[in-house]
Amino acid sequence: MKPVVLVTRKLPDAVEDRLRRDYQPRLNPDDRLYSSDELIAGAAGAAAIVPCHTERLSAEVITRLPDSIRIIANFSVGFDHVDLEAAKGRGIVVTNTPEVLSDATAELTILLMLGAARRASEGERLVRTRQWRDWSPSFMVGTQVTGKRLGIVGLGRVGRVTARRARGFDMEIHYHDLHRLPPIQEEGAVFHPTPEDLLPHCDFLAFHCVATPQTRKMLNAERIALLPDGAIVVNASRGTVIDDEALIAALKSGKVAAAGLDVYNNEPDIHPGYRELPNTFLMPHIGSATRETRDAMGYRALDNLDAFFAGRKPADRVA
Ligand code: DGY
Repeated sequence: MKPVVLVTRKLPDAVEDRLRRDYQPRLNPDDRLYSSDELIAGAAGAAAIVPCHTERLSAEVITRLPDSIRIIANFSVGFDHVDLEAAKGRGIVVTNTPEVLSDATAELTILLMLGAARRASEGERLVRTRQWRDWSPSFMVGTQVTGKRLGIVGLGRVGRVTARRARGFDMEIHYHDLHRLPPIQEEGAVFHPTPEDLLPHCDFLAFHCVATPQTRKMLNAERIALLPDGAIVVNASRGTVIDDEALIAALKSGKVAAAGLDVYNNEPDIHPGYRELPNTFLMPHIGSATRETRDAMGYRALDNLDAFFAGRKPADRVA
């Protein structure tokens, strides 16, 4: 008997084909966002769930999952939406999809840097609304990216690819992480043991860290004050790392010249202040949204399921 797998969102066709071949999948062809109650009901009799970060598998939800569930194979690298302790408590294995989205997310981070620095939202709006009238030396002047210092919080897989792409713009890379990386992984990046040490070196600041209680509101008013005047902040990790009120105040005062954001607190009902500001470049959480990467994420999630049901340890086990 093929195991029954609850798949919470519409996945790429090739991934769903493989699911149909190897499992009894309960698919969601309309891609409707399930409530917790619907997810729990949908999991009845299933051995596995393949969720995305859009499903919050809190301790309360995990406690109510049917006993048949043995593995949660996330279609995401982030797993902050899953209460790992609760899963461990119930003996449920949890996996994620690292590595396969590093290129796509790093590309998006570079887009955020360029979009924020070169005022892409303002420019696009002018053209689309037929308000573009003229050219002048003082028109739409932004910040140059080339040759600037980029500070990265979290020089993991995605952070390192972003650093590599940024070096294509002759950027000098600085980073903060919990531990200093070996030189082969630093590739010349300058380590700073605390965020406070890093921030004064950041003409651009990019977040690629994991969402944990320790990184919550990491960028707050006190730390923003340590940035050089006119710095640019970008975030393609998780919205929780930013204190929205503090960043919006800094964008209004000009302390932060611009922000490029792909992730937010309380998505998709983001802080309205971001929408109102001209100096924000806003994307709707699409860091991994390329055809190649979404296929690869699906295959990676299925590789984890395959290993688990073959009695092996899944490569990307996080709990
Ligand atoms: C991830 O994989 O964590 C992305 O944010 C999409 O969920």
